[in-house]
Amino acid sequence: MSVQSTIKRKTAPDIRARKNGEPIVMLTSYHAHTAALVDRYCDVILVGDSLGNVMHGFETTVPVTLDMMILQGHAVMRGSQHALVVVDMPFGSYEASKEQAFHSAVRILKETHCGAIKLEGGARMAETIAFLSERGVPVMGHIGLTPQSIHQFGGFTPRGATPDEAKQLLKDAKSLEEAGAFSIVLEKIPATLAAKMTKSLKIPTIGIGAGMHCDGQILVVSDMLGLYEDFHPRFVRRYAHLSETIRQSVAGYVKDVKEEKFPIQKESY
Ligand code: KIV
Repeated sequence: MSVQSTIKRKTAPDIRARKNGEPIVMLTSYHAHTAALVDRYCDVILVGDSLGNVMHGFETTVPVTLDMMILQGHAVMRGSQHALVVVDMPFGSYEASKEQAFHSAVRILKETHCGAIKLEGGARMAETIAFLSERGVPVMGHIGLTPQSIHQFGGFTPRGATPDEAKQLLKDAKSLEEAGAFSIVLEKIPATLAAKMTKSLKIPTIGIGAGMHCDGQILVVSDMLGLYEDFHPRFVRRYAHLSETIRQSVAGYVKDVKEEKFPIQKESY
């Protein structure tokens, strides 16, 4: 007798089919606990390589390794049941050749059980995306400000502001679509350009700092929850102030310990 899961997770084709439909809701998550909390609200959970900044305190995503992504990707899969989980391919795990990308993607899919991978880059990645897509690996693209190229860009400034850059980004988006990507993240590009891309593509666009006319939106979960007070990009709306809540909770605990009010019951368990 075959064992089949009764829970139906969203798939890459489900997300692809949302073009011009209900907006796609996407958040990052890096561990089981947050994944369980956001799962029922999100269409897609991204195990972003931003985990390098958020969990490990790196200045960029460049030091993140494939093993780090696999460990956290598996944790997010264990914590979630409904959302499509997409795991980022980290810097250095896919750029050398399409074969290298395939081997890294296969490790991610086999070891995390996630439903898709994401990689950064425009037209230069089209051949790789076609190679992966033809071999059973659903690929989400990512263009605009691609943080893995930060040393080449020289900073986190928006992309696509000049006519030449905008033209190139439009070409990039088209070539990812033609290569078989099921959707594309547009990061930090002008809203008018994102709107133009969204209109001209048959696959959904997911914006972050790309205005309101994309087919969906993504935020880094710790940014929208207000976990980092010193980091507040203009495009992030904060829905909570968790750093303040944590500070107050820890102060309350410290006070109780010092005043010998903790544990509440004095006798041991
Ligand atoms: O790593 C990440 O969190 C991302 C999003 C910002 C799109 O790639």
